[in-house]
Amino acid sequence: MSRRRLLGVGMTSPRTRERMVRRLRAQGIRDERVLGVMARLPRHLFVDEALASRAYEDTALPIGHGQTLSQPYTVARMTELVLAAAPRRVLEIGTGSGYQAAVLACLVEEVCTIERLLPLLRAARGRWRELGLHNIRARHGDGARGWPARAPFDAVLLTAAPAEPPAALLEQLAPGGRLVGPLAGRDGAQALTVLRREDGRWIAESVEPASFVPWRGGVA
Ligand SMILES: C[S@@+](CC[C@H](N)C(=O)[O-])C[C@H]1O[C@@H](n2cnc3c(N)ncnc32)[C@H](O)[C@@H]1O
Repeated sequence: MSRRRLLGVGMTSPRTRERMVRRLRAQGIRDERVLGVMARLPRHLFVDEALASRAYEDTALPIGHGQTLSQPYTVARMTELVLAAAPRRVLEIGTGSGYQAAVLACLVEEVCTIERLLPLLRAARGRWRELGLHNIRARHGDGARGWPARAPFDAVLLTAAPAEPPAALLEQLAPGGRLVGPLAGRDGAQALTVLRREDGRWIAESVEPASFVPWRGGVA
């Protein structure tokens, strides 16, 4: 049996995923679509094999280059907030391991995602291919510019924390669309925030405290 197949039993089995989903419910995740996808998707394939047995724990995990795969709760909560806009097309900034994009790809028509670190992007593409996810478009670049050629997006998701929401990303939102991500509040502390336009004004709804990796400019 291959190493991957072996990883399919024990700490990475469907039963382990079900335990994770029970914990997500207890933490307040209510959207059954999100819970259903996270129960099916093999999160352990998105981290190094040495960390696979920890993939379903309530924690962020290192993915190399000083970056992390967010904890399951954070992925679930952000996905719920994105789905509230009933999106067909979503732009994610910060592909990382590709797990968040994979969760979204099971729930919306098309996911576009941008990552500034090329090795992470390449690894993520390999994982989506392996899982047969063909509705993800990924680009190497600085997420601050967004993806004008594929805009507008019904939702934009930030998985790193910028000092200010980049203007280009707000411009690339479709009418009625929303930006979800960690933004700094008045006190300077990060909060998971939903930003949407109402009567020509941007309204920021702070959902809960957050702790994301910093936004970085440029590409590498
Ligand atoms: C918390 S990790 C992302 C986790 C990822 N969504 C996943 O499912 O694994 C944040 C990612 O944002 C990327 N990032 C930070 N600033 C960026 C920028 N300006 N443009 C594109 N990617 C950026 C980092 O390189 C890192 O991979």
